[in-house]
Amino acid sequence: MGYAAEYERALRDPEGFWAEQARALPWFTAPRSILDRDPNGAWRWFRGGRTNTAWLALDRHVAAGRGACPGLIYDSPATGEVRTYSYAELTARVARVAGALAGLGVGRGDRVIIYMPMVPEAVMAMLACARLGAVHSVVFGGFAAPELATRIDDATPRVVLSASCGIEFDNVIPYQPLLDAALAHANHKPEHVVVLQREARAADLRAGGYLDWHEWEAGAAEVGWVEVDATDPLYILYTSGTTGKPKGVVRDHGGHAVALNYSMHAIYDIGPDDVFWAASDVGWVVGHSYIVYGPLIRGCATVLYEGKPVRTPDAGAYWRVIEQHRVKSFFVAPTAFRAIRKEDPDCRLKARHDVSSLRYQFVAGERLDPPTYHWLKEHLGIPVIDHWWQTETGWSICANMAGVELLETRAGSPTLPVPGYDLRILNEDGSELGPGQVGAVVLKGPLPPGSLPTVWGDHARFEASYWSRYPGFYLTGDEGYRDADGYVYIMGRMDDVINVAGHRLSSGEMEEAVAAHPAVAECAVVGIEDPDKGQVPLGLLVLKDGVNVERAALQQDLVRSVRETVGPFANFRRAVVVKRLPKTRSGKILRQVLRKMIDGRAYPVPSTIDDPAIMDEIGAVLVAEGVMAGPNPPQGGVSS
Ligand code: COA
Ligand code: AMP
Repeated sequence: MGYAAEYERALRDPEGFWAEQARALPWFTAPRSILDRDPNGAWRWFRGGRTNTAWLALDRHVAAGRGACPGLIYDSPATGEVRTYSYAELTARVARVAGALAGLGVGRGDRVIIYMPMVPEAVMAMLACARLGAVHSVVFGGFAAPELATRIDDATPRVVLSASCGIEFDNVIPYQPLLDAALAHANHKPEHVVVLQREARAADLRAGGYLDWHEWEAGAAEVGWVEVDATDPLYILYTSGTTGKPKGVVRDHGGHAVALNYSMHAIYDIGPDDVFWAASDVGWVVGHSYIVYGPLIRGCATVLYEGKPVRTPDAGAYWRVIEQHRVKSFFVAPTAFRAIRKEDPDCRLKARHDVSSLRYQFVAGERLDPPTYHWLKEHLGIPVIDHWWQTETGWSICANMAGVELLETRAGSPTLPVPGYDLRILNEDGSELGPGQVGAVVLKGPLPPGSLPTVWGDHARFEASYWSRYPGFYLTGDEGYRDADGYVYIMGRMDDVINVAGHRLSSGEMEEAVAAHPAVAECAVVGIEDPDKGQVPLGLLVLKDGVNVERAALQQDLVRSVRETVGPFANFRRAVVVKRLPKTRSGKILRQVLRKMIDGRAYPVPSTIDDPAIMDEIGAVLVAEGVMAGPNPPQGGVSS
């Protein structure tokens, strides 16, 4: 069946379509209902089904005689180690880590925070939680202590699993100070903290009162899986919304497994004998779905790469990994290729490697800018597939489905909606827009399996953030348009989410750090275009009356504050002082208007602005500071 027929079928008969996909996986008990609503009114898939994601990802492959097949390939330029875990080995380790967690009292429904670098034990920890029916929440290692503390307070874990350090290029980053500070800062006190000692830098476990991972795991017995409901939570993954408080995206066991299994063959064209590589981090949704769960549920080999696109040791690192492990489909954020292109513009290092195993290049996480797309097309000679999705959906909303029918690719477009997603472009008043017209990209409910059923501990926020703007439609937060053939083009966020090198941050998170400075009266942080990172944050500050600070020192303080409060990966490096900020008459800062002006895009000034002259005033400051090349008058006039 081709793409169009597959898409139509899922649209016409979602229950029939997804029941068939569910039958592609074994169940302890088959679902009683395919799709219904829970008492909150949220759509739920596969109610009554009994399963366990770790069993689907591990034990059932071993039971089917595939125990000797490669499961997890750990490739670490950071430590020099390359090691393949077979499905049997991985299952045994996970069963033991699960036993060790159970020994600490962790059981079904308990939360466990995993704050770890890209080591095999991080993957084992995730799967061990799943095995017990416990709910993991992985926190990206680049987050600073206050962000970790916020997540500890929201998820209220019994146990925190961590490591003694992370390795970023030549930089060894000790985790203990971050852990100590987060635990001191958090109101919730986890019962246990377990730390994996790494050679590059050991932690002082006794001082922290932490358990040693190696002893903890060695002393445990292997335990089996726990049957859970398809609708039980598998994990919480915090993501940035428009405010400073992250949203706990909840993922279930059943729908998630069915959706990922489908995506592995339908989108990525991956079978059990293939090697799949997503060069992301386990702290992000790409890591959850496509380093860990998707490939393992599919039964193929997955690469866990603790390295970078460049300088580990050079810009040929990716080609080396593809050759060494015979990777078939590779998935990474475009920013990584921009880093490679900068160091190896003619892609010469690729010629040193046999990358003939590579059939598809997938990219996502941020907009694939046309120059990077053309560079990839020219140098790879294989389909370059941009696909668009978000933490909330857990898998692709739009893609060129390599395993169904490869369609023509168009620069700047992630192609067409994937079966299960009924995508519309809406105007402010909720009417549907036609080809070429830019509007809010929304998805008509129900969303397919795998997408979030709620926000952890705050269902009202789930409704308010995603379903209230256009009732019956899920608000993606992105704006975009479709061309005459229906190809989708994603232009960027309509809200205050910033995307830095494929990492999602909110204005609010950074503004809290900036506004805490005693000289700052108020501020706005906006994401502006950057040739390397896609976007970088820029701070606009209004100083308190009568304050006299040295600008360079102020900027240094603010950069340090954002690094220590949010994390270094936010790449907050620049702040500009202005006299006032553009606001609506009700006091809301017009960040989107600022962003568009700085990026040189059309920015109709809303009629609700308290003083339209303010844009010229800020524009002049930004030109004088070298942020903008020249004034950019509003286009399209004043909108209401
Ligand atoms: N732990 C601790 N610190 C981290 C970190 C982590 N996991 N990830 C990033 N950082 C730090 C970096 O060390 C750096 O610190 P510095 O300012 O002290 O040098 C800072 O955050 C900025 O990091 P980054 O923006 O990643 O820049 P970089 O120069 O270190 O690396 C790339 C550039 C292109 C190699 C890197 O951005 C990359 O690999 N991007 C791929 C994107 C990706 O995987 N996205 C996931 C979504 S699909
Ligand atoms: P995250 O939840 O971190 O995966 O970030 C999701 C956001 O990243 C989306 O809402 C988009 O703004 C952006 N994004 C992800 N993939 C793409 C893509 N292929 N093209 C354009 N934007 C993307």
